[in-house]
Amino acid sequence: MALPGERTPGAGWDAELYDRAAAFVWQHGSDLIDLLAPQPGERVLDLGCGTGHLTAELAARGASVVGLDNDPAMIEQARLSYPALEFVHGDAASFRLAEPFDAVFSNAALHWVTRAAEAAACIAAALRPGGRFVAELGGKGNVQAIASALTAALAEAGYPLAPERFPWYFPSIGEYAALLEAHGLEPVYAALFNRPTRLEGGEAGLRTWLALFAGRFFEVVPDEVHVEVVRLLEERLRPQLFRDGVWFADYRRLRILAVKRANG
Ligand code: BEZ
Repeated sequence: MALPGERTPGAGWDAELYDRAAAFVWQHGSDLIDLLAPQPGERVLDLGCGTGHLTAELAARGASVVGLDNDPAMIEQARLSYPALEFVHGDAASFRLAEPFDAVFSNAALHWVTRAAEAAACIAAALRPGGRFVAELGGKGNVQAIASALTAALAEAGYPLAPERFPWYFPSIGEYAALLEAHGLEPVYAALFNRPTRLEGGEAGLRTWLALFAGRFFEVVPDEVHVEVVRLLEERLRPQLFRDGVWFADYRRLRILAVKRANG
């Protein structure tokens, strides 16, 4: 079923809906830039830049930025919004850029990259020795209530999601720190914290979030089953996630700062 904004492989993102309904993604990312503390003139790669709002904030703080995203619609929107900035199309798990960066910054993107080891290798290769990697992604337990209810409702409807098709990567601090270390990136700060996140759209907030972020779960599900599963989710999650006319997603974030070892 092609709901507006649904992300399906091949169909890509609805960048316009993303900008309208998911502003919280980059609004919450602003203070991640403080953790990076970009210095004027530093070369910074914004990995998974989406529509480019945080790339522009990095540039406003004096960094020389390149935004990279795997979705052509996102890159097109970013170029339209910020024509003076450089945006390139690329995959976080296989990109190679010629000139090394002082820092790689990534907000709310790496939980989409299930080939996490390949991504860590690309990040390490993109950094100069001593360069910083600063990221926020969904951490262990992220959207647990939504994902569990969704998995259960699909199974009850006769469309169980095979575990290998789970679309997200939500590591613990220990798991992610070990992965980075194995690729020559030394973690110097990490935090895992709850951030219940207000969804736009009032009564339609959860439905819109599912359309934007959970399309993969519904790839082989007929329209009428899709509609019924969404209805069931709203019914089951309402006591926990709906307050005073607003849906909240049970986000749990992992923030990390790592430095590329001088000797690789
Ligand atoms: C997140 O930002 O935590 C998130 C994004 C997409 C799907 C699930 C979680």
